[in-house]
Amino acid sequence: MLRTNTCGELTLKEVGNQVTLSGWVQKSRDLGGMTFIDLRDRYGITQLAFNMDVDAPLCSAARKLGREFVISIEGTVTERSSKNKNIPTGEIEIVVSKLTVLSSAKTPPFTIEDNTDGGEELRMNYRYLDLRRTPMRENIMLRHKVGIEMRKYLDSIGFLDVETPYLIKSTPEGARDFIVPSRMNQGEFYALPQSPQTFKQILMVAGFDKYYQIVKCFRDEDLRADRQPEFTQLDCEMSFVDQEDVLSTFEGLARHLFKVILNKEVADFPRMTYQDAIRLYGSDKPDTRFDMPFVELNNFAQGKDFNVFDNAELVVGINANGCASYSRKQIDALTDFVKKPQIGAQGLVYVKYNEDGTFKSSVDKFFDQEALSIWAQAFNAKPGDLFLILAGEANKTRKALCELRLEMGNQLGLRDPKKFSCLWVVDFPLVEFDEESNRWHAMHHPFTSPKQEDIQFLESDPGKVRANAYDMVINGVEIGGGSIRIHEKELQQKMFKLLGFTDQEAQEQFGFLMNAFEYGAPPHGGAAFGFDRWVALFGGKTDIREFIAFPKNNSGRDMMIDAPSAIDKNQLDELGLGIRD
Ligand code: AMO
Repeated sequence: MLRTNTCGELTLKEVGNQVTLSGWVQKSRDLGGMTFIDLRDRYGITQLAFNMDVDAPLCSAARKLGREFVISIEGTVTERSSKNKNIPTGEIEIVVSKLTVLSSAKTPPFTIEDNTDGGEELRMNYRYLDLRRTPMRENIMLRHKVGIEMRKYLDSIGFLDVETPYLIKSTPEGARDFIVPSRMNQGEFYALPQSPQTFKQILMVAGFDKYYQIVKCFRDEDLRADRQPEFTQLDCEMSFVDQEDVLSTFEGLARHLFKVILNKEVADFPRMTYQDAIRLYGSDKPDTRFDMPFVELNNFAQGKDFNVFDNAELVVGINANGCASYSRKQIDALTDFVKKPQIGAQGLVYVKYNEDGTFKSSVDKFFDQEALSIWAQAFNAKPGDLFLILAGEANKTRKALCELRLEMGNQLGLRDPKKFSCLWVVDFPLVEFDEESNRWHAMHHPFTSPKQEDIQFLESDPGKVRANAYDMVINGVEIGGGSIRIHEKELQQKMFKLLGFTDQEAQEQFGFLMNAFEYGAPPHGGAAFGFDRWVALFGGKTDIREFIAFPKNNSGRDMMIDAPSAIDKNQLDELGLGIRD
C-alpha cells in the first residue's frame, strides 16, 4: 500500500496510529540530531521527523532527499512539541520508521511556494510544477466546484447536457475562425466553433426545450487577461421563453453560485439599458461597485469662448468625491494618464470645489465662480470634491472618461474584489455600422431578434433598431451574454440581407438553420457565460489564465508543449496542403 492517509488529514485524534504517507518533499530542515521534512500532496502538508540517535542510516537517507523528490514513508503519528496552528496537521508529526524513494527530482527552476520566484514564461513552460503550488491547485479546485454547482443547478431545473461537435462550419461570433483541413475532402476545411450557437438553436427545433453544455469555444482574436483563444463557456438555450424568463433563470443560477461558492447573498440584478450604460459610464460593461456617473456639461460649458469645449461634440465629467485636496503632482499624473495613447484624450480639465466653498480650476480664465457653481450643481457636488472633465468626439471621449473613472475607482479603493455588483445590460442595438468595411455588423450575432416595435426601422434606419439582447455584467466584467433568437425564416433572411450576405451566401453558410426553421421552430432564446471569467471572478482575480490548467500565453502559444508548431511534409501532403514546385 502506498498510503493509508493523505498529507492533509492527520490530527491529534490519530496519535499512536501506524500510517503510510506518500507525496513530494516540500522542504527539509536539519537541526543537528533531528531532520524534519514537510511532505506535500494535494490535500496538505505533514511534518516527518527523523532522529539520528534512533536510526542513523534512516536519518542520513532523509538528509539526502532533495526538493520535490517523491517518497513514501511509514511511521507513527506523534504529538509535536512545537505546534503550528496555521495548518490542520500542525499539531502532529510522523516519526518515520521506513523511507522509500519513489522518484528523484531535479531542482525545480522556481520555488514551489505560495509566492513563487518564477516569472510567467518559466511557470508556463513548467506548468506541472506551477500547478503544484497551493494557490494554483486551489484555483483549479475552485473551477471544478463552480462547474459541479452549475451542473447541479441546471439539472435541478430541467436542463439537458447535450454535446455538440467541434469540427463544424464557421459560426459568426465576431472573431476569426481556427481552421482544420480535411484529409478526406481535400481543399475543404472545418472551422472550430466560436460557440455552439447554431447547434443549440437546432436542438430547440429538435424539441429539447432546455439545453446546457460546459463547452470549449475557439476564437482567433487578440488576447488579453480575460481572453484566451480556446476558452470555456457555460452555454444555454431555452424554448418558449421571453427575455424576462431567460434573465430570471440565469439570475437564479448566479445567485445559487454566489451562495454556494462564496456564501454571499446578492441583491436583485438591476437592468440598465445599453443607452444608459454608455451615457452614464461610457461602457456597456460598467463597474457598478461604485457610482461616480458621467455628467454632461455641453449646456453649461459651451459658448464661453473656450475653444476646446466649443469645438467638442461632448463635454463630460465625473465627480471624484473628496479629492479637492489632490496636489498639482497628482492632477498632472491624471492628465498624463488620460493622454496615454491607449486612452487618447487631448487633455484634462479639473475643477476643485474647495472646502471654503470657492472653486479653483484649470479653466478659471473662461469660467467664473458663478459658472462653476452651476457645474457643481450638475455634479451634485459638495465642498471637497474634484471634477475631472474631458471634451471631444463623443464616443472617444466617453471611452477615455470610462478609463479615468475606473482609475479613480482604483485610487480611491472603490473596486474591492471581495465586493460584487451584478446587473443586466439590456436593449443593445441590433447592428452597428463599421466604417472600415462600410457595412452593418450584428452587435451580438446574426441570429438575434430585433425588438418587435423596432422591426419597422430594419430597412429605413437599421442603427435605430434595438435587439432582444442582454449581457450579464459583474464588477465591470462581461460574464455572459445572450438574446432571444429569430425563429422565422423570412426575418432571418432579412437580417442576413441587412448584414450584406447575398441570398446564395446566406444559403451556403446557414441554409441548414433556415431550412430547420421551416419544420416548426419554437420561439427560443438563451445565453452563454464565460466559465473561465466566472471562476476568476469568484477567485478574486482578473487573469483567467490562473484558473485554466493549461492556458496559452499572450501570443497564443502553449509554452509547455510548444504549440503551434510546423508539421511534417508528409502530413501536409496527405492533407493536400503541401507546397508544390
Ligand atoms: P459571446 O460571444 O458574448 O456570446 O460569448 C459569451 C461569453 O463568453 C466569454 N468569452 C470569452 N472568454 C474568454 N476568452 C474569450 N476569448 C472569450 N470570448 C467570449 C464572455 C462572453 O460574455 N453564442 C453567444 C451566446 C448566446 O447568444 O447565447 C456567444 O457566444 O464572458
